[in-house]
Amino acid sequence: MSSEAIAREVKRRRTFAIISHPDAGKSTMTEALALHARMISEAGAVHGKGGRRSTVSDWMEMEKARGISISSTALQFAYEAEHGDGAPNVINLVDTPGHADFSEDTYRVLTAVDAAVMLIDAAKGLEPQTLKLFQVCRHRGIPVITVVNKWDRPGQTPLELIDEITDRIGLIPTPLYVPVGIAGDYRGLLDRRTGEFIRFTRTAGGSKIAPEEIFGADAAAESEGDAWTSAVEESELLAEMGQDHDQEMFLAGQTSPMIFTSAMLNFGVRQLLEALVEFAPPPEGRVGVDGTERTVTDPFSAVVFKVQAGMDTSHRDRLAYMRIVSGEFERGMVVTHAQTGKPFATKYAQAVFGRDRATVDTAYPGDVVGLVNAMALAPGDTLFTDPRIEYPPIPSFAPEHFSALRVTTADKYKQFRKAIDQLDAEGVVQVLRNDLRGDASPVLAAVGPMQFEVVTARMKAEFNVDTVLEPLGYSLARRTDEASAPELTRQRGVEVFSRSDGALLALFSDKWRLQFIEKEFSDLTLAPLVAAA
Ligand code: G4P
Repeated sequence: MSSEAIAREVKRRRTFAIISHPDAGKSTMTEALALHARMISEAGAVHGKGGRRSTVSDWMEMEKARGISISSTALQFAYEAEHGDGAPNVINLVDTPGHADFSEDTYRVLTAVDAAVMLIDAAKGLEPQTLKLFQVCRHRGIPVITVVNKWDRPGQTPLELIDEITDRIGLIPTPLYVPVGIAGDYRGLLDRRTGEFIRFTRTAGGSKIAPEEIFGADAAAESEGDAWTSAVEESELLAEMGQDHDQEMFLAGQTSPMIFTSAMLNFGVRQLLEALVEFAPPPEGRVGVDGTERTVTDPFSAVVFKVQAGMDTSHRDRLAYMRIVSGEFERGMVVTHAQTGKPFATKYAQAVFGRDRATVDTAYPGDVVGLVNAMALAPGDTLFTDPRIEYPPIPSFAPEHFSALRVTTADKYKQFRKAIDQLDAEGVVQVLRNDLRGDASPVLAAVGPMQFEVVTARMKAEFNVDTVLEPLGYSLARRTDEASAPELTRQRGVEVFSRSDGALLALFSDKWRLQFIEKEFSDLTLAPLVAAA
């Protein structure tokens, strides 16, 4: 394919993730997006609750039991935008695992997207998980569109929500529309650019696209009365405060286009798709570790951001999800794995529909493709066709949970070691060791405790090894060095470990212990681990 044709494919693509706190409505919104845009393919799992459609891979019993999705998903939609150039847009939605617990996977997904939709509950405003994920977006320079969901239910006022976001995270919301009707009485939207009223009509159970009718200001004033007047006043106030969309400031992460929705009633969902197409950036090239730049139309390259094993007992294999960075991907092409220099055949590139899998024949920058039997691939790895390129690794995140892992069946020690090395290489958890504890009882370090359960479950399912976890009384880690290690080891409430990448980590029982030691021994090296880079 010519580079002009690839450039055209890139230009019409948008790749994003929804960041939210559990219950804000991410699954409902995902379904609403699927209703408005034609689903092209689906890789991984969408979690559904209650009686809702559950599209899904229930790859582990644990996942099924909890009704949550541990795995990432990549959904691909085609959407013909009003503001587009006629050709349908291709929208990739990469799912962040939807559970209160964090894992490194949650963060890694954000390395695969170009924009994020911060979905908040109109009544609850900013919640802890949203804040954490937002910080990752900020750190990585990912522009954020703000969606205030559940506007059909009583909640805060638009100005209260705007103030909260501005004050707490320093992001300036620039509403593209102002809701007509307070939270709980969602009638439609005032389009701030055209001054028109977009009226929504409910459909039974929100199962269909909500019809929209457009009215001029006079007709809106007549039919909606005070609700319209308030919306107009709010819009004017926002304009006076300078809170109008500014593309440069949005891309710089300073402002955030804001949209009010009811995912349940399908109100405002089309407007979200329009905003993604109009404002979210298309995929861009990346810079390799040696400083060479790969633009999107250069030969094929991709980054693995997620590896998933044992997805389905009827397909016992390992699936690696890669995000394409440059060039055209054609199934069957042989690419090189930068980390080992070995060729990798992509005969089995797939999009996954729960248990059913569809093969992917071609894909372009921004798209996510699952590679089956990807035993050698780990998160952060690069695949390419010549010339060689290697992208920087995905940084590991500051763990906050630590547990020692022991095998309980004496004759399984060899399998246990093999399993630990495998899970370590996949990046499921960080594995820490020191001489004192020996090899038989490595310490697992995780961003969220659910990662531990994934380890014990996989130990049992894939390696037939029974293990027990013993939580350790540490809650934070600092990076240290050989010179500081002996002094730290002598301290109460501190233990030093080496991580498999060679880094030396000191674990502390709590922040007071750390502060005390920092004060007492100011010459020790104690650097914070990157929370997210
Ligand atoms: P999550 O993936 O972010 O965890 O949230 P999810 O979509 O599962 O939604 C959480 C709950 O909020 C669900 O109710 C869902 O129906 C409801 N919800 C989502 N969007 C809206 C909205 O725009 N308006 C209103 N009023 N409710 C919304 P549930 O009772 O927990 O589950 P269900 O029985 O409805 O499935």
